[in-house]
Amino acid sequence: MPDFPAKHVFPQTAAVTPSGHLALGGCDVADLAAEYGTPLYIFDEQTLRERCQAFLREFQGRYPNTSVIYASKAFTNLALTRLLVEEGLGMDVSSGGEMAAAKAGGMLPVKVYFHGNNKSRKELGEGVAWGVGRFVIDNFHELGLLNQVAQEVGRTQDIMLRVSPNVDPHTHAYISTGTLDSKFGFPIGTGQAREAIRQALSCSYLRLVGLHCHIGSQVFETQPYQAAIRATLEFAAKMREEGLELREFSPGGGFGIPYTRNEHPPSTAQYADAITSSFNQGCQELGFGAPMLVIEPGRSIVGPAGVAVYTVGARKAIPGIRTYVSVDGGMGDNIRPALYQASYEAVVANRMDQPSAERVTIAGKFCESGDILVRDVDLPATEPGDLVALPATGAYCVPMSSNYNMAPRPAIVMVQNGVARLIRRRETYHDLMAEDVA
Ligand code: LLP
Repeated sequence: MPDFPAKHVFPQTAAVTPSGHLALGGCDVADLAAEYGTPLYIFDEQTLRERCQAFLREFQGRYPNTSVIYASKAFTNLALTRLLVEEGLGMDVSSGGEMAAAKAGGMLPVKVYFHGNNKSRKELGEGVAWGVGRFVIDNFHELGLLNQVAQEVGRTQDIMLRVSPNVDPHTHAYISTGTLDSKFGFPIGTGQAREAIRQALSCSYLRLVGLHCHIGSQVFETQPYQAAIRATLEFAAKMREEGLELREFSPGGGFGIPYTRNEHPPSTAQYADAITSSFNQGCQELGFGAPMLVIEPGRSIVGPAGVAVYTVGARKAIPGIRTYVSVDGGMGDNIRPALYQASYEAVVANRMDQPSAERVTIAGKFCESGDILVRDVDLPATEPGDLVALPATGAYCVPMSSNYNMAPRPAIVMVQNGVARLIRRRETYHDLMAEDVA
């Protein structure tokens, strides 16, 4: 069987079996659906490990003093955290919950970077007490609060400051963060970043180790990273007069992945080339030595490793307009099409050997007209019971899922070498009501 269209959007182990079924990690997707039910999220372990290794190899090969910190908001799961520990990555957490997951998965606290624009006193206290490596400070309120909390716990806490260099990453407005009009970070242009450095250096229980400037997510160009790095390093050079010592620097994450067949973002090597070369050059020109470079990939680690599988049910053909094929999941497990107009590829996992026969729109089962997973996709003729698979669903689908319409969240399996293991069981109706008090 020749490669199927859009194969580069699927996990590395994607293949078609002699009976025309999609296989992942050596497991027949139809068998997995029969065993675990649908909607089902399947993660390919080989792809996950390779993505971790690619970031370590490509960045450390060019700039040895690089730390790779997985942005856990993209997908948090205990089995995944264990895998990250084995691969030598750290973890970026943006809430007490993500921190608890990092801890439970065996992540060392020194490898944890705590982000967020409104960390609570409780979260700060838990983080300091656990020994979180870095808090990435987002605003003046938090600076004062963390200093107090660290004093109460009796520790000096390492921090970075998140600055906003006013660079447009040309991505969806909802996932763009480095521009002036953003809720995140201290703007450099307004003088607030300078003031933050002054205040941070005067906090006796905080130790300022560097600057951070995440510009956005699903960034398809390397130039915005270079612009943000240059602007932030130039700013850091000026801030020497305030007493700033730049030991660490982070351009965040945001590396793009292909969702559809015509998307070809830069490779990990190309991002690494652009980032390490402008970082090296900036550090040399501005006399910074070799500070630690911290990168925070989220989507680009887990996104390509995940495939969502749904069962086809109802069909509605509106002559001359459109045919809707409904599946048993939708915006409850993947809000991205409704929230960001995100596009996905789709295949019929039990008819991979059949040619496309019609153009359909794949609708979810939730009570919203906007619950459309994929618009206008060419598929083989489908019948109720067929399996529709959406690739590149490993990032920001499960973690942004909800119980809307009291839908239990899907099961998740990890596959490798023909073996599947459940890494999250499907929610039950009982789970849905377990927290109600009546
Ligand atoms: N570091 C920081 C400080 C971040 O805020 C983020 C993502 C990352 C790293 C990781 O970015 P990534 O490598 O995953 O692009 N829900 C949206 C994406 C939101 C990204 C939020 N911050 C989506 O579904 O596209």
